[in-house]
Amino acid sequence: MDFGEAQYQYTATPLHDSDGAIRQVMVVVENITERLRAEAQLKAAAEEKQRLTEKMMTSQKLEAIGTLASGVAHEFNNIMAIVSLANEYLSQSVHDDASQKQIALIRKTIERGASIVRQLLDFSRTEKASMEPMNLVSVVSDVTATLRRLLPKNISVSARLDLSEAYIQGNAQQLYQVFLNLGINAGDAMPNGGELTFHLYSTMHPLDAQAPTPVVVTEVRDTGVGIPPEIRSRIFEPFFTTKGVGKGTGLGLSIVHSFVSAHQGVIELESECGKGTVFKVILPLLNASPQSEQTDADAELLQLHANVLIVDDELFLRKTLSHLLRRHRLSVMEAEDGKSALQMFKKHKTEIDVVISDIGLPNMDGTQLLQQLFKLQPSLKVIAITGYLDSYQSDMLTQHNVRVLSKPFEISALLAALKDLLSQNAVTAQQPTRTKGSASSKTSASAKTRRKC
Ligand SMILES: Nc1ncnc2c1ncn2[C@@H]1O[C@H](COP(=O)(O)OP(=O)(O)OP(=O)(O)O)[C@@H](O)[C@H]1O
Ligand SMILES: [Mg+2]
Repeated sequence: MDFGEAQYQYTATPLHDSDGAIRQVMVVVENITERLRAEAQLKAAAEEKQRLTEKMMTSQKLEAIGTLASGVAHEFNNIMAIVSLANEYLSQSVHDDASQKQIALIRKTIERGASIVRQLLDFSRTEKASMEPMNLVSVVSDVTATLRRLLPKNISVSARLDLSEAYIQGNAQQLYQVFLNLGINAGDAMPNGGELTFHLYSTMHPLDAQAPTPVVVTEVRDTGVGIPPEIRSRIFEPFFTTKGVGKGTGLGLSIVHSFVSAHQGVIELESECGKGTVFKVILPLLNASPQSEQTDADAELLQLHANVLIVDDELFLRKTLSHLLRRHRLSVMEAEDGKSALQMFKKHKTEIDVVISDIGLPNMDGTQLLQQLFKLQPSLKVIAITGYLDSYQSDMLTQHNVRVLSKPFEISALLAALKDLLSQNAVTAQQPTRTKGSASSKTSASAKTRRKC
């Protein structure tokens, strides 16, 4: 539901005279925007609670099965080691063809058993795999290439990578296994051919029921048979399979679940019978990519050490902006509307270097907020984000040398504006005689030169 515009409820009550004729009509107009917003928030919170309860139950169940599976797997390993040794002994003791055939069969069966035990141990792995900062994009690209070779030719495998890098704290081998298992399942679900697509992008997600945090999502989408609703709650259980004897062990998805949980991630599933399935693997993004990955332009911004106040009522946009700026080592404060921004600014006036504010804010329009802020600090650096400006707003922003970014804007444009404004700061600090508003694109060049000196 969109509450971008106010919602009103009209109630009309006829007022009768003593003869019963309608003389007047009383119309009560009630602004119900807040009520509807509160109702929608309550509904969303209830749905989120339900989702988390189901997720917790699945995790607890899988954890219990994992403990059991790990015990069984270790016992089986010992049993198979004995059978294998005895089989080798037999193979050297008997020499007739018929016996050697039986011995070969036992060897093959032991190999299959060992492979199941390996998968079981993978699923119930109690020791922690080593995790390090890694680029998920490389893993997804590698898996895509492998699946292209592995799956039948009537299945097209493609990857849509919205990010060139997505750093997470992870174990590349485990994640490779995750996407390989999902890809193989997708292939099995398309016996007559179809499309397997990987789509990688970043977004915000409340991974651990806290506030939304930046995550990288990898969707694995197929155009296969789909998963019937009645088995959806069971597919992550070990040994649950709908594939024939010898075709599937039912361990693929339990391993996927176990590895994704070890990465503090979650899996979401959408499926429609006859149309296909999407598994979404959602993993927390690292706050910053490794230092070596920073570009020269980033490094320039990194040196500026600024405090930025972001004012936006749109949670997703605010969080994404704040994540992005933190990646560039800027300190970020957030406010969801004009009133709280004003309060925050009064409290931290001396610390805030730049304000990035939306103009279309609830309860206090962005230009009203900025006017109040300029009263408190006339030289404040501001970047305004807006979809539309009327001439009054436009004049006011120009007058105060506010940078304006029109939605949608490129991140590079925001960073450029920030760099430019902050460089002005640096120059102003070093050249007190410079007059206000005289900064131009030359300013950042001169600031650059100064830093080099
Ligand atoms: N993309 C998919 N489309 C349709 N059904 C699926 C898909 N992925 C999984 N399933 C269902 O979930 C079940 C469990 O999958 P899982 O990967 O755990 O085991 P498996 O594929 O049967 O065997 P294994 O992976 O151990 O060889 C499958 O048997 C299948 O019924
Ligand atoms: Mg499988």
